[in-house]
Amino acid sequence: MQCEPHLLSSDNDMSALPTGTLVAVIGAGTMGAGIARVAARAGHLVLLYDAAEGTVEQGVARVAEDLDRQVERHKMDGAERDALLGRIRPAAGLEELASAGLVIEAIIEDLNVKQEVFERLEAICAKRTILATNTSSLSITTIGATLQHPERLVGMHFFNPAPVMKLVEIVSGAATDGSVAEAVHATAAAWGKSPVHARSSPGFIVNRVARPFYAESLRLLEEGAADVATIDAVMKESGGFRMGPFELMDLIGNDVNYAVTRSVYEGYYHDPRFKPSLLQQELVAAGHLGRKSGRGFYDYSENAGPHRPATAEPAPGPEKVTVCGDLGAAEALVHLIGEAGIRVVQTGGPGVIQCGAARLALTDGRYATSRSAEDGLENLVTFDLAADYREAARSALAPADQASAEALRDAGGLFQALGKRVSIIDDYPGMAVMRTVCMLVNEAADAVNQRVCSAGDVDIAMQRGLNYPLGPLAWGDAIGVPNVLTVTEHLASTYGEDRYRCSPLLRRKAATGRSLSDRAPLITNSDP
Ligand code: NAI
Repeated sequence: MQCEPHLLSSDNDMSALPTGTLVAVIGAGTMGAGIARVAARAGHLVLLYDAAEGTVEQGVARVAEDLDRQVERHKMDGAERDALLGRIRPAAGLEELASAGLVIEAIIEDLNVKQEVFERLEAICAKRTILATNTSSLSITTIGATLQHPERLVGMHFFNPAPVMKLVEIVSGAATDGSVAEAVHATAAAWGKSPVHARSSPGFIVNRVARPFYAESLRLLEEGAADVATIDAVMKESGGFRMGPFELMDLIGNDVNYAVTRSVYEGYYHDPRFKPSLLQQELVAAGHLGRKSGRGFYDYSENAGPHRPATAEPAPGPEKVTVCGDLGAAEALVHLIGEAGIRVVQTGGPGVIQCGAARLALTDGRYATSRSAEDGLENLVTFDLAADYREAARSALAPADQASAEALRDAGGLFQALGKRVSIIDDYPGMAVMRTVCMLVNEAADAVNQRVCSAGDVDIAMQRGLNYPLGPLAWGDAIGVPNVLTVTEHLASTYGEDRYRCSPLLRRKAATGRSLSDRAPLITNSDP
């Protein structure tokens, strides 16, 4: 009997279902119609069934409209469109799905209804038919618990819109047969997707690992470190994220985003790691759901003003700076400063840039105020992490309470001389990008440590599912694992909350100097 949780890795090569395999999709709503289109595009004949009358026709009509646009944009020709549409056929009842080799369920997110559908399918389909569910929040193990053969049930979690989003999480429940998960993984890859393996657990990979992206910004806002537009601007223009967290929550809908956080929090027995935000709860209660209600974190009404981030007035740049020691993840700044025509003198020291009256340091997760006192650094101004200091259009600065106005002006002048817009935020542990990225790294490390997924797959999932500029583990390696550990430990000691506890894997990797994104499994046991 296998006692260790089964950790599948996407590196394995396994055969996809041949295109001659009949695919059935149940539920012709937002996801089902999109999934049917993906399978038909790959050459499968697809049967589409929905319990609500007229829904299949509406779903197919939506697919046809999308394909027409593709033809207009010359991304597909008319014959291809007709052939693809011809491969999607309506089914009048579940009985018609008997000869399907793969059935993908994309119906209402209700455990009992899904269990009932799969129980009926078991009686209708052949024993070899693979049963897949597109659930985004229910346990695959629980959905399969009422089946005679739960080993053939697997999660096939597409992202919205299914034809566009590359990521598919292939989710194995406790009873799922490894070969079933591998076959579905290979099939998703053959359909042009980037599949990853995940063990059934709350939020699977993406919906779990992404929580800090929202949670840390909500906390910054709650504690008054900066306003919504400034946090979004810093996360985009320094952090390299495609959308700011508040823009994204408004787009997803605060009700939906809040419900996902609650479901992961409850799924993990109220682990404080995932504690929802009272601020977001209040927005939901007020009906400020985001774009769809005309108001969320931002006001989308016609007479609302533009959402302007706080940007510092221009200040004179320096002629010379002294770089004292190693700047760690911000070392690239030394070259940029030289390239800007500023003379750089390098000496030993604690990793600070002396610029006029200011001492500038990359945030290490402490309040600049505490660090200034603890390390005896006068006029300390901390700056935030950038995904790429050369590309970053904005830099965030946070002065220690002891720092003079002159020091803050000199610090701003330096970043402006490098061509950056500067946002001054209140002194805040780990600032915006650093604390968010370190918590993403920590969560990704925990998911790997708990055998939810492999190191390679968590990075693929976050890049392909949410367009993160880097996979969290690769990002952790770029920052330096000991540095991530330091930031996380500082956050944990500042707040005294379990939410910021370090992942054991982070400690283990920091101790050996090994890479977090190392694709090698933690243990390799050869099969007998
Ligand atoms: P939807 O509400 O757009 O479509 C669901 C469809 O299922 C409806 O057309 C409904 O008539 C049909 N249906 C309900 N009960 C049925 C039954 N017993 N038999 C046959 N058809 C039935 O929902 P959506 O958004 O497409 O979600 C479907 C599934 O995909 C859910 O499990 C959801 O959690 C999951 N999902 C949704 C995503 C999204 O962004 N909308 C993303 C990823 C997964």
